[in-house]
Amino acid sequence: KLDKKILVTGGLGYIGSHTCIELINNGFNVSIIDNLVNSDITSLKSIEKITGVKITFYRVDLTDYKKIKNKLENENFDVVIHFAALKSVRESIKFPEKYMDNNIGSLKNILKFMKYKNIKKLLFSSSCTVYGKPDSLPVTEESIFKKPESPYAETKQISEKLIDEFSNKFKQNSISLRYFNPVGAHHSGLIGEKPKGKPENLVPYITETAIGLRKSLSVFGSDYKTKDGTPVRDYIHIVDLANAHVAAVIRLINYKSKKYYEVFNIGTGKGHSVLEVINAFKKVNKVDINYKIVGRRKGDIDIIFSDNTLSRKTLNWKPKKTIEDMVESSWRWQKNINR
Ligand code: NAD
Ligand code: UFG
Repeated sequence: KLDKKILVTGGLGYIGSHTCIELINNGFNVSIIDNLVNSDITSLKSIEKITGVKITFYRVDLTDYKKIKNKLENENFDVVIHFAALKSVRESIKFPEKYMDNNIGSLKNILKFMKYKNIKKLLFSSSCTVYGKPDSLPVTEESIFKKPESPYAETKQISEKLIDEFSNKFKQNSISLRYFNPVGAHHSGLIGEKPKGKPENLVPYITETAIGLRKSLSVFGSDYKTKDGTPVRDYIHIVDLANAHVAAVIRLINYKSKKYYEVFNIGTGKGHSVLEVINAFKKVNKVDINYKIVGRRKGDIDIIFSDNTLSRKTLNWKPKKTIEDMVESSWRWQKNINR
């Protein structure tokens, strides 16, 4: 049993909640901070139900340093996993300052708190969005940061640079995981992605259309230079992604790297088009989806998928789930919440 304490910010969100379960399954002790801006308290109950473990939860806004310090003054942690951020690309274009304030402000407070408490290990949620529109495929961790396609993307580029500088300056070990497109849900059907309002991402839109909450799915563009004209992404099952965090935490704890800051792509290495995802969903779940092809969505790129060689080798991690597992578990979750 790994008797280590992990502070998980944004731990009640989609990726955080699945990661907490896998951390607990691997013997870690987990505390969560979240302000519930994009999640609700029922996910805490679900994590506790699935794992049978009671979790310490702090309802704190991470942009409020005094409150973080106040609430966590007497706690000690071995590792911080920082998930908390706002993640809507569309909203970030409308309100760029809100994204800078929340995402960069929270990160700065977390770094300040880690320094104050002498916590030396950080795992950060980055995104393949830092690559912008890549020059060559698949993208490796060496690929440069191109122009960010949105203010949200810009917050991830800035965050990574801040963490890199901070880690080298204070000799702290940090890892950023650059997630590709996380989809799917826990096999229990008890937790999953629950967008507040109209979904922006493909798979939640598919499941909400299939269950009748939405009339029709709009497929944003079929004139891209891809196999069937629709954009290609590297979809990764949420439980595989959660387990990449466990692997990265273990690496941080047993640190052998000479580098203070490391980054890893977390994807399957395979690309699927929008139409392929829709068809896999229909075939696996035997339900129809009403969709129509409309114009392109601003900020979308044609194609991106990962080279995951480095994470496989260095983190000793590999994705195990297929696109069929992803669409099957998403549908099970959607049916469960709409019962
Ligand atoms: P999510 O919105 O489900 O979870 C984020 C959590 O952070 C929420 O529970 C929210 O309430 C909390 N939060 C936000 N701002 C906060 C603040 N100021 N103080 C306290 N809590 C705050 O999102 P997710 O999909 O689980 O994403 C987690 C992380 O992964 C984010 O950093 C996101 O940018 C990143 N990421 C997500 C994706 C994706 O497609 N889901 C892809 C790449 C990277
Ligand atoms: N799509 C549709 N219709 C929809 C929603 C999406 O056709 O209703 C298409 C998009 O045009 C895109 C693909 O489905 O081609 C995937 O779109 P998502 O919104 O699900 O995912 P993105 O690749 O655009 O972006 C996601 C997250 C970002 C993150 C990025 C990279 O939304 O936060 O992955 O990690 F930055």
